[in-house]
Amino acid sequence: MPSYSPALTAALAAIDEDAFVRRADGTLVAQSSSQQIIADLINRLDLQPGMTVLEIGTGTGYSTALLAHLAGAEGHIVSVDVVTELVERARTLLPAHGYPNTTILRADGVQGAPEHGPFDRIIAWATAPHLPAAWITQLAFEGMIVAPIALAPVSKSGIGTRIRLTGDTNPHVDQLFPAGFVEMHGQELDQWLIPPYGIDVACRDDTGRACWLSGPWLRSPEQYLQGQHLLDNLATDRREVSGPLEQGEPAADFRAWLFATQPDGLTTAALGDPIWRIGHAHPTGAALTDTRTATSTITTGDPDAADVLTTWANTWRQAGCPGLAHLQPHLTAFHDGWTLHATSGPEARRP
Ligand SMILES: C[S@@+](CC[C@H](N)C(=O)[O-])C[C@H]1O[C@@H](n2cnc3c(N)ncnc32)[C@H](O)[C@@H]1O
Repeated sequence: MPSYSPALTAALAAIDEDAFVRRADGTLVAQSSSQQIIADLINRLDLQPGMTVLEIGTGTGYSTALLAHLAGAEGHIVSVDVVTELVERARTLLPAHGYPNTTILRADGVQGAPEHGPFDRIIAWATAPHLPAAWITQLAFEGMIVAPIALAPVSKSGIGTRIRLTGDTNPHVDQLFPAGFVEMHGQELDQWLIPPYGIDVACRDDTGRACWLSGPWLRSPEQYLQGQHLLDNLATDRREVSGPLEQGEPAADFRAWLFATQPDGLTTAALGDPIWRIGHAHPTGAALTDTRTATSTITTGDPDAADVLTTWANTWRQAGCPGLAHLQPHLTAFHDGWTLHATSGPEARRP
């Protein structure tokens, strides 16, 4: 078992996970994260007794119970979710299991919970497209946020971040870590196959499976049509080639580096199978590798798309195969918050 703070270890031992993640008939609530993922994020939060916490994504209420245990009777957890049924369920379950120090609201977490702040801590279980201004407005001095945030303007680029507000009003990121969560959505989802934001072109194949592309290069009406054509070709006229990585090379590091460097034509995709892909695409060709190993790539059209992906992999190797641990995060202000970026040090360059 990974090592957590003594208080979190005690909370994990004290709370019956099944009481939250299972319904009365024994089935699992769909919106559950694994105990290890929940504990990893909470462990980073440095939550102390008496603190007020905003949680975004109540889900089963299990994480809410852990937070409420750590904050203690003097502390308070305000937890929001967009799914009414989950909100009502958690409102009943939490006091019944000894956590009256919780307020559960149906709300879009991107707005925070302005009536209930300021918060000493904010934690989110869904990926935000950027750091919302509302979270910083509602964060107390010397507060801390642990949340997955998109590292690139493509779907599935969420990276775990720990953000602090110290000295001035500018937030800064002091940790990056792997964290794969669903993208935040303002309404309850009626399907799970196509991510709720960042998708530029999408379709269903003959058997109803979802195919989509996400890439900044697709974001004009003309390019949208080209993207649709490309997606058709990826369904009907495609080849599988090996690479760009060799077996055993760290695919997660390559992926994080691509999100950080954001090379031209960076595209994420799903092509009807349960895995999602990353690679290079342009109007007349695409090469999209599986994100788990990056050792197998689907291509269509111009062969130069696969060459570009190979060049990216070679540039990454020449830079020493940097991954999350080598990236320096930055936040850039815009009118409604901050976007997350990262560079991989002096050797980082656009491939
Ligand atoms: C991974 S699940 C919950 C994990 C939770 N901590 C647990 O295991 O019990 C993510 C939750 O975030 C919620 N969610 C997604 N987007 C949201 C948003 N914009 N505001 C509030 N909740 C959101 C989803 O409805 C879902 O319940």
